[in-house]
Amino acid sequence: MSTSAVRSKACYLALGLVGVACRGGANYPSGELEFDPTRPGADEPREVAPYDGDDEIVLEAQAHFRTGLEFHTEVIWRTCTPFDGVCHNSKEYPDLRTPASFAATFGAPCNVQPGDFTSVYDGCERPGDRVHFDGGGLESADIEIAYVEYRPGESGGDTAPADGPGLHIHLAHPVATDRDEFWGSANFVRRFVADGDVHDTVFESFRSTWRIVDDGRHVVAEVAEYQVDRVQALLEVGIVEGDANRNGVFGARETDPVSLLEPGAPEHSYLIARMRGELDGHDVPGSRMPLANQPFTVPEMLAFFCLVEGFEGLSSAALADPIDYRNCSYADDPESLNLLGDGVTWEKRIRKIFEFNCGGCHSGAQPQAGLDLVSEGVYERLFVASQQSPELQLIEPGDAEASYLYLKLINDPAITGNPMPFNPLTGDGRLTEGELGDVLTWIENGAIEDE
Ligand code: HEC
Repeated sequence: MSTSAVRSKACYLALGLVGVACRGGANYPSGELEFDPTRPGADEPREVAPYDGDDEIVLEAQAHFRTGLEFHTEVIWRTCTPFDGVCHNSKEYPDLRTPASFAATFGAPCNVQPGDFTSVYDGCERPGDRVHFDGGGLESADIEIAYVEYRPGESGGDTAPADGPGLHIHLAHPVATDRDEFWGSANFVRRFVADGDVHDTVFESFRSTWRIVDDGRHVVAEVAEYQVDRVQALLEVGIVEGDANRNGVFGARETDPVSLLEPGAPEHSYLIARMRGELDGHDVPGSRMPLANQPFTVPEMLAFFCLVEGFEGLSSAALADPIDYRNCSYADDPESLNLLGDGVTWEKRIRKIFEFNCGGCHSGAQPQAGLDLVSEGVYERLFVASQQSPELQLIEPGDAEASYLYLKLINDPAITGNPMPFNPLTGDGRLTEGELGDVLTWIENGAIEDE
């Protein structure tokens, strides 16, 4: 790929990154800070000597993206325009529209409002809110909340309380009691730090009959019909869950906490990890970013990395400073930032996706639609005309929308027959978003065979 083709893209960086500090929550930087390009207290922008080496990628990045503001305008913001709506959804996506909201992702927690708990990365988990119980002769200590779940429905019947309807609170430590049930309140406690003082504040309580199950690590409240609104309101407050992804790991205690963008540490930044699919050698759940758009070019990745590495403090004004390419450690080997360096090649990733999901039908002596996606020589066979739509190749390197196989995967209206992977039971089927993202990245980067 020509590195001079600096393309703009990637507001879709945001797509699917559900759960970020984009609404005006009290505790976190919101995307609504006033943007002030003049740093308070210091009128002059930071002095940065330009890169004077001869690496063409660095020179190109420096020419196109001199400051964080330029990077935001050229790469992050400009591509929002054709996809009006996506970047504007400040509820579900990190809001990257304005320089201030982009700047607010530095140091901001990730996965604050996840759409789906399985997509939360352990490193994004924060210390959970706590709860204590009182009433019916029981007075418990504050216990960290692992996660909370409301299951609507009538209590009673045969279902064991652990699986039945009600408000379920899973706890990091057991409630010390030998009772099976009691009538009383759960008091939800959050820690606030203001002016150097730590305050523990009860922000909600809920009164009901509580059943104690799983040796006290799980309590279930009955929710009468008149209490449903109250429970909904409680959940809307957004209880902070110490084990939001319910995998038994309390991220805030057991892993290094991760921010959306970590000043000084691009490789420890969640936004970047979602582009690469991994962080510190661990897979990051959720689909690859940018999902529905062109992957970043190498100069764009370099600008992003050098911006994050050199970002000073948490001031949005720092975006106006020149990006320090000269001292940027990634300027020594920018090619290593190529997203393909992370293995989105036929051999490292795509071949297996096809083998697992397509091999059952597209292999053997009489593969479906005459298309064998498994045996010797499969890579070469991807670059021939489709049978169903002979004006298109199955794979057109660099152009997913002209790749018939890809159109089958996304169930494009232009396809003949069923979307793939075909599911004979339901008539449709779909790869996971992550797999689709990989196939897209692979095609757009030239459908490369090897590393
Ligand atoms: C359960 C069987 C089954 C599975 C699994 C399956 N396919 Fe298919 N595939 C078919 C059938 C049957 C056809 C022809 C009818 C149709 O397109 O609906 C077909 C047609 C195709 C075509 C059209 C070929 C052409 O030359 O136009 C492509 C491309 C394709 N499949 C790709 C895939 C991919 C990629 C996967 C895995 C992600 C996959 N299929 C999984 C059964 C399957």
